[in-house]
Amino acid sequence: MRGYLVAGNWKMNGSNVANAELVDGIIAGAPQSDLVELLVCPPFPYLSAVAAKTSGSNVRLGAQTISEHESGAFTGETAGSMLRDVGCEYVIVGHSERRALMGETSQAVADKFMAAQKCGLTPILCVGETLEQRESGKTEAVIDEQLNAVLDSAGIDAFGRAVIAYEPVWAIGTGMTATPDQAQEVHRHIRALLEAKSESVAEGVKILYGGSVKGDNAGGLFSNPDIDGGLIGGASLKSEDFLAIAEAAVAIC
Ligand code: 13P
Repeated sequence: MRGYLVAGNWKMNGSNVANAELVDGIIAGAPQSDLVELLVCPPFPYLSAVAAKTSGSNVRLGAQTISEHESGAFTGETAGSMLRDVGCEYVIVGHSERRALMGETSQAVADKFMAAQKCGLTPILCVGETLEQRESGKTEAVIDEQLNAVLDSAGIDAFGRAVIAYEPVWAIGTGMTATPDQAQEVHRHIRALLEAKSESVAEGVKILYGGSVKGDNAGGLFSNPDIDGGLIGGASLKSEDFLAIAEAAVAIC
């Protein structure tokens, strides 16, 4: 049983006051289940303050990106060792917003994935197609290119210490969730791609779905065999909304 991971990507939202209320609410209401792990990923400036609250709780801490470099003259960048130092266990890599807005290539994402693992962080590798790509029948080709870039650089065994998030770009922040069948189809494709290289790694890796997940659609998504939780944007910014998604996972376990 892989269990579920319900991860909140807070993106560029929050303040000291708002984050304290949010994380206190999440910790207070976090389900006591060995099979459902909760994770919050605040913006960099707030990691330490949030870590002070999550430390000792059953809510884990992650960052939203990482430098591919270890240290040195990289103004504005943040190294994996620093993320570990402030209490992170996870880091999101290759979010579509960073691929599109910051020009992160699949190779840069692979480098970040490896930098994360080198520091003992678990990377959450985001992959997903745009609406135009889906409508022109390129979904699987896009996913394959994004995954293969990491597989070629890091190797299949690296996925024994990683999480994948399928986030169709057209479903992010739009309210247009992929149907459970659409999501399951791509999740199965992702797991099959890994299976071709290692059945045991493919069987063990968690594949999250992201894109307009809410309390009322999470159960339908999570009950599919290859969907192991969610990467949540908007609905991770209110503790009640985030916890409703976590409860949907608990209900399936
Ligand atoms: P929304 O849940 O707001 O659609 O965002 C999804 C996402 O991008 C999580 O990384």
